[in-house]
Amino acid sequence: MTLLVTGAAGFIGANFVLDWLSSSQEPIINLDKLTYAGNPETLASLQGDARHVFVQGDIGDAELVSRLLAEHQPRAVLNFAAESHVDRSIHGPGEFIETNIVGTFRLLESVRGYWSALPVGAVSERDGVLADGSSRSETAPTQEGFRFLHVSTDEVYGSLAKDDPAFAETHRYEPNSPYSASKAASDHLVRAWHHTYGLPVLTTNCSNNYGPYHFPEKLIPLMIVNALAGKPLPVYGDGMQVRDWLYVKDHCSAIRRVLEAGRLGETYNVGGWNEKPNIEIVKTVCALLDELRPRADGQSYAEQISHVTDRPGHDRRYAIDARKLEAELGWKPAETFESGIRKTVQWYLANPQWVSNVQSGAYRDWVQKQYQAS
Ligand code: NAD
Ligand code: TYD
Repeated sequence: MTLLVTGAAGFIGANFVLDWLSSSQEPIINLDKLTYAGNPETLASLQGDARHVFVQGDIGDAELVSRLLAEHQPRAVLNFAAESHVDRSIHGPGEFIETNIVGTFRLLESVRGYWSALPVGAVSERDGVLADGSSRSETAPTQEGFRFLHVSTDEVYGSLAKDDPAFAETHRYEPNSPYSASKAASDHLVRAWHHTYGLPVLTTNCSNNYGPYHFPEKLIPLMIVNALAGKPLPVYGDGMQVRDWLYVKDHCSAIRRVLEAGRLGETYNVGGWNEKPNIEIVKTVCALLDELRPRADGQSYAEQISHVTDRPGHDRRYAIDARKLEAELGWKPAETFESGIRKTVQWYLANPQWVSNVQSGAYRDWVQKQYQAS
């Protein structure tokens, strides 16, 4: 069996691939466009590993996706590919519409074409006989066994007031940024492809992730990288906006669990009950750096904090109610925020070359040249 995973040169997708292949022999076809956020260097440890096949391409390229599906016969498609940064979506929403909405639509159509041609029925575990009476190897995908898992965000639910209960799966969609609106649209398309065509879909809506290999434009890696470079730490507005943080490997374990046992057509919220105001996050990062890599002048990195103009339309608070995933599928995060943030800061201290390469696009450009040459 095989998985087709899109956007897996990005932060969460790459963590998912590394995590998956650390405990499974099941190969992954990784389809990634290598935008500025895609960094194949994250997956350099898999070079020469036949279980990882990297393909540079767009989820919206129907011909390419259909060819990959026909060739590799995956039992599931996991869609991580997206434009993911809210600030970029404010300055230039076009790419967000193209990839997150049009790209997801095209991907769904390619997958529907592949899925509808698969043999009907689930393989019997006992004798390898399909429900329609034909026999088939137990390793071949079937319509019933196939899954399309769409990775989405809690931002589709909009913003909470201070005392509102956390977002449950039943919360209405109220996206406020071009990014969250485009992800909300993609969630609706996925839902519609299930209800209209019967495509076996699953959707996960996760809170803010953090951890290794995070592109340093998002809050936590940006603060670490700027602090070490002696630059200001830009906190938007009063810094009292609340986000709910989840260590990326815990997101990966949740996706594995939903893929394995999620009910078709359902959505599952993923979060670790870690609501924190931004300013507290920044101060925690500074305190860890003070301990692990003290400034030469003996001052705290917190001296570099600088309150700047707020993001337009900035959502005040996100919080995830993950009880459905916990109760139905028995998922639990392994990390506390304290253990996860320490590991994250330690990882960035140990990997300055990765940071500098991802900032300059060096490794991505190198990979692209290899493709052009071959
Ligand atoms: P990321 O920006 O780090 O990575 C996105 C990846 O998708 C990149 O490798 C990029 O090259 C690729 N990509 C972009 N457009 C593509 C296209 N048209 N075709 C193929 N590949 C394309 O994002 P991330 O943080 O890893 O997020 C992954 C997914 O998880 C996204 O769907 C995002 O909406 C969702 N999500 C992210 C968070 C978070 O905190 N980062 C939280 C919840 C949900
Ligand atoms: P970000 O990491 O961009 O994720 P998202 O907008 O998807 O939640 O931002 C997390 C929070 O940190 C958000 O409230 C905006 C804030 N923020 C800053 O205060 N300064 C920054 O430089 C960045 C990038 C974000």
